[in-house]
Amino acid sequence: MPELIPILDKDAIAQKVAVVAKKISLDYGEGELILVGVLKGAFVFLADLIRQLTVDKLIIDFVRISSYGVESETSGKIRILKDIETEIAGKDVLIVEDILDTGLTVAHLRNELKLKRPRSIKICTMIDKIERRRINIESDYCCHRVKGGFIVGYGLDYAEAYRNLPEIFELKM
Ligand code: IMP
Ligand code: MG
Repeated sequence: MPELIPILDKDAIAQKVAVVAKKISLDYGEGELILVGVLKGAFVFLADLIRQLTVDKLIIDFVRISSYGVESETSGKIRILKDIETEIAGKDVLIVEDILDTGLTVAHLRNELKLKRPRSIKICTMIDKIERRRINIESDYCCHRVKGGFIVGYGLDYAEAYRNLPEIFELKM
């Protein structure tokens, strides 16, 4: 039987999201910000985050990405299945991702979005998993750092399961 080890409960999540939202609001407060949520994993985090942001003009868009490779690790070769629909040239963009693991997915996405000539592009992740990083990339905003382990809940899945859990767990197989 897989075992779910609690990492963050509802209160801890709310508190950490509020801290990150405050930082983002301070950094972009007077301007316009385009949030690019990475489907599917980031939609729960994004939904909570935007309701804590006080940025003047907030635009929400999404990308859907597929990564080729074995199931537990990305190959880094990603394909954009659904691109953003917003014009981002000259605009400030913030990628909102569920988890930064090897870093290959976000690095590739950032490169793709850079081709559209935004003014700036930063990264916000709910979880930063530092142990398996394969490329030099850091999140500009991060709610929680873990060393390793497989994390589920609050949008994060294992083979599409566990996304609906309101709290964050480590899955032990
Ligand atoms: P990266 O390219 O290795 O950084 O992979 C990032 C993607 O892999 C994330 O967007 C997740 O979809 C998935 N992923 C990596 N680690 C985990 C995890 O611990 N739990 C759930 N999904 C994960
Ligand atoms: Mg994902």
